[in-house]
Amino acid sequence: MTQPPKPSGSTFPSPKGEVSLVILISGNGSNLDSIIQAINNNKVHHATIRAVISNRPNAYGLERAAQQGIPAICLDHKQYENREAFDNALLEKVQSYQPDLVILAGFMRILTPGFVRSLIGKLINVHPSLLPKYQGLNTHQRAIDAGDLEHGCSVHFVTEELDGGPVIAQAAVKIDSTDTAQTLESKVRKKEHKLLPLCIQWFSLKRLTMIDNVATLDGANLASQGQRPTDDVLDDM
Ligand code: GRF
Repeated sequence: MTQPPKPSGSTFPSPKGEVSLVILISGNGSNLDSIIQAINNNKVHHATIRAVISNRPNAYGLERAAQQGIPAICLDHKQYENREAFDNALLEKVQSYQPDLVILAGFMRILTPGFVRSLIGKLINVHPSLLPKYQGLNTHQRAIDAGDLEHGCSVHFVTEELDGGPVIAQAAVKIDSTDTAQTLESKVRKKEHKLLPLCIQWFSLKRLTMIDNVATLDGANLASQGQRPTDDVLDDM
């Protein structure tokens, strides 16, 4: 029997009232998977993933998307002359899906100011530290080296300042004396898998916005470190 065609982001509009998501990745895509599961399990409502785009051809996240019938696209940054050329092509591809929200879920490239400005208020990122601590890379080792007692992850709106946009929410983990960068990364990653879908749920319910560089939830300005959802709220995601 012939199978009906799978919905394709470019030809099938999202159902009315659904928030359209485009997810950018570079690698494994475990955060992508957590978003897919949260939508499938009705933990995130009114949201449809229109496309997953990777800048690396071998990103496993592309397979995860394809297995779910989600358009999985690679734009290999190495095929472009420079950062601007790649970001222009990426922006054009992203905009073709008319996204309400673009999610950087392990997208490991610095974006040009022009790209960020075109999507301001619609672009969020998950970062593996309790911002403003440890912007950039190697966050787990840096937290251990500093003797910190806690570490965690942040979801924030993306602005032109790298890892510096308004924080939406954070989740913390304890650093044990036996933790290595690897064990800490795995503890933090588990929190990311709850925190990012929760923030997407807030956005899709129209509870979350960024106005004049300030993140607001339910109409109230968020503190500089965003919300700290309780473990109960996170575990429910
Ligand atoms: C995550 O730790 C995220 O915080 C960082 O990149 C990693 C991506 O992991 N920005 P995955 O590809 O979602 O598994």
